[in-house]
Amino acid sequence: MKIDVNHITMIYPSGKKALQDVSVHAKSPSFIGILGPNGAGKTTLMKLLIAGLLPTKGEILLDDKPLPAQEQYLKSQLGYLPQSFGLYEELTVWQFLDYMAALKSIKGKAAIEEVLEQTSMTGLKRTRIRNLSGGQRQRVGIAQALLGSPQLVILDEPTVGLDPEERVKFRNIFSEMAQDKIVLLSTHIVEDVQAVCSRVLVIHGGQLLFDGLPAALIAQTEKHVGVYLTQPDAPVPEGCQLVSKIHTAQGIRCRIVAERLPACAQTVEPTLEDAYLYCIHAFGRTGKGDFAHETVS
Ligand SMILES: Nc1ncnc2c1ncn2[C@@H]1O[C@H](COP(=O)(O)OP(=O)(O)OP(=O)(O)O)[C@@H](O)[C@H]1O
Ligand SMILES: [Mg+2]
Repeated sequence: MKIDVNHITMIYPSGKKALQDVSVHAKSPSFIGILGPNGAGKTTLMKLLIAGLLPTKGEILLDDKPLPAQEQYLKSQLGYLPQSFGLYEELTVWQFLDYMAALKSIKGKAAIEEVLEQTSMTGLKRTRIRNLSGGQRQRVGIAQALLGSPQLVILDEPTVGLDPEERVKFRNIFSEMAQDKIVLLSTHIVEDVQAVCSRVLVIHGGQLLFDGLPAALIAQTEKHVGVYLTQPDAPVPEGCQLVSKIHTAQGIRCRIVAERLPACAQTVEPTLEDAYLYCIHAFGRTGKGDFAHETVS
């Protein structure tokens, strides 16, 4: 499968511009993480990809044909977990998946057993959804997206609200997924992208600021991350973005990202989280992405 998002601009009827001139190209296999703050445009991009919205400008091609003409094919190949996902509280996990399978015209019980296994939900298949924890519900949501082994899997914030143990389970689901799909997942949690994605998109203010390997995003942040010791209530130096502030025996240890680090800061190796924050910070400073767009095929 191949997807080409060509120069998409999305303006909602309210006049809100949610995406501006975004282009993304992907072919299977691809595991792509979409990072961006609240309101960045992540869900809008995903809704455009599932043909739930029509772009104001630009076009999306699925296997070289425009998306509107490919809707049947898209539906047969798509697994989608929306950001807000209503589950039928009175159904058991099995009944819910059986219902979703029927909607997707998937016959037989094997497909349901398979996704239960993949999401470690087999032991809970007779439990009513209203009795599940938040993390277990999220896994049911992922399970329905994986029904029928779709070629395109779009997960909008699949790890939101999960505790660290559930997030590890989520990563295991990913590592066991067939490596022949295009998977797009949006998240605020940089570690999840680091753990499961080979490619990262950073979206902010409706613009694509970065598209490439996580390592390339980190490499662009070299020499822009520093630490220094300071006193309580001391202001963060101008032009710097605070990443973390830790109380230590020696004083308060601040970690910052900045275009030019202040003299007091000692340069340290960037993490993916630093790199993401620096990307957003650079955009805020200049109003445009300073970061290169790496082409990944
Ligand atoms: N139906 C809509 N009508 C008008 N504006 C909308 C609509 N949906 C989203 N927006 C606006 O478009 C922008 C992008 O929203 P979107 O939901 O795509 O962001 P997001 O990156 O998914 O954010 P979050 O991390 O909070 O889920 C926001 O400013 C939002 O308020
Ligand atoms: Mg969203």
